[in-house]
Amino acid sequence: MKRIEFHDRETEAKEFMNILNSEPSLITFVYGPINSGKTALINHLVDRLPEDYKVFYINLRGRFISNYDDFIKVLFDVEHVARYERIKEFLKPIAAVLPESYNGIPIPKDTFLKLFKEKEIEDAFVYIETVLRAFYESGRVPVLVIDELQVIGDMKINGHLIYKLFNFFVRLTKELHLAHVFVVTSDSLFIEQVYSEAVLSDRCKYLLVDDFDYETTTAFLDHYGFDMHEKEIAWQYVGGKPVSLVRLINEKRSEKKIEDVAGSMLKLRTGEIMTRLKIVNELGDEITIGNKRCDVHHEKLVSALKMFVTRDEVGANELDEVSKRYLVKENILFADPLSNTIKTQSMLNLLAMREVMGDA
Ligand SMILES: Nc1ncnc2c1ncn2[C@@H]1O[C@H](COP(=O)(O)OP(=O)(O)O)[C@@H](O)[C@H]1O
Ligand SMILES: [Mg+2]
Repeated sequence: MKRIEFHDRETEAKEFMNILNSEPSLITFVYGPINSGKTALINHLVDRLPEDYKVFYINLRGRFISNYDDFIKVLFDVEHVARYERIKEFLKPIAAVLPESYNGIPIPKDTFLKLFKEKEIEDAFVYIETVLRAFYESGRVPVLVIDELQVIGDMKINGHLIYKLFNFFVRLTKELHLAHVFVVTSDSLFIEQVYSEAVLSDRCKYLLVDDFDYETTTAFLDHYGFDMHEKEIAWQYVGGKPVSLVRLINEKRSEKKIEDVAGSMLKLRTGEIMTRLKIVNELGDEITIGNKRCDVHHEKLVSALKMFVTRDEVGANELDEVSKRYLVKENILFADPLSNTIKTQSMLNLLAMREVMGDA
């Protein structure tokens, strides 16, 4: 198996290092469309940070978090630790070559059990602050990274957990300058919500990790022997979406024709979007905005999508709010609250939408 090397991201990496080289004072939201390479970038950078940084990386992706217990288990990565404890014996022979065993906040078992029993999220925050301070005082710079934070966006522990967390992050950065805090998310509705949040105004900055641009894409494909024609096909179908480019590279390695693979990727996505619209048309659907349930209208969805037949990007106010949110939630559109624009999540989505609208 041949690996695919991490490609480029020099501008973003530089920005990231600039942040790490100054005193922590703002929360950094790393955002961008799905599969644009946010997690890959963070992991790449974290692996290369000098020893004087101590990174705690917590990924909420795929974790089922519905209450306080679940949340603090993830925060302290106890399941991973418990599993590690169970299999430690088997790991002994290779222990020397293993990297640090886990990424959660280190915690002694009895302390964890106490926090677990008392259900006071504030106690957990105080504990974390103490751990971060210990690293800080030993001369290391603590860096806290929470990936896919939107997972707990709606969760309540005596009020919204997310606001308590934001307040905690503000304390770690702006008030105490104790740790760098990075929040990573693909959920543009979450970012939009964050953007308008009073607790966070002037207390955070945003770092966009978007799909590769044309030059970066062709340079990436050059490494894997794509000829001119193949590069053009790749760009035309999937644009600079890293995950899709990786797929094409692997398919080329198994001697598939790029055109065929790209064509079937488009067909698949077209079918998915068509089905979505058909379901809304026949069964209807609804979304919740704040506390209000709103009906999704098929005709409105279609007119929203139609705007993208001739344009790649539209202003946030050009779409009705319900259709916009629905299409964002369905990972078809991506809303960038900073530029107040909406585009598709990927080139493939744009093409698929155009196919569907062509038939509409
Ligand atoms: N800079 C890069 N170089 C090479 N491959 C990348 C790069 N960024 C992302 N990828 C590929 O794309 C996939 C999706 O990226 P990921 O970081 O999971 O996206 P996100 O976190 O933005 O949803 C990765 O698993 C990796 O295969
Ligand atoms: Mg990710």
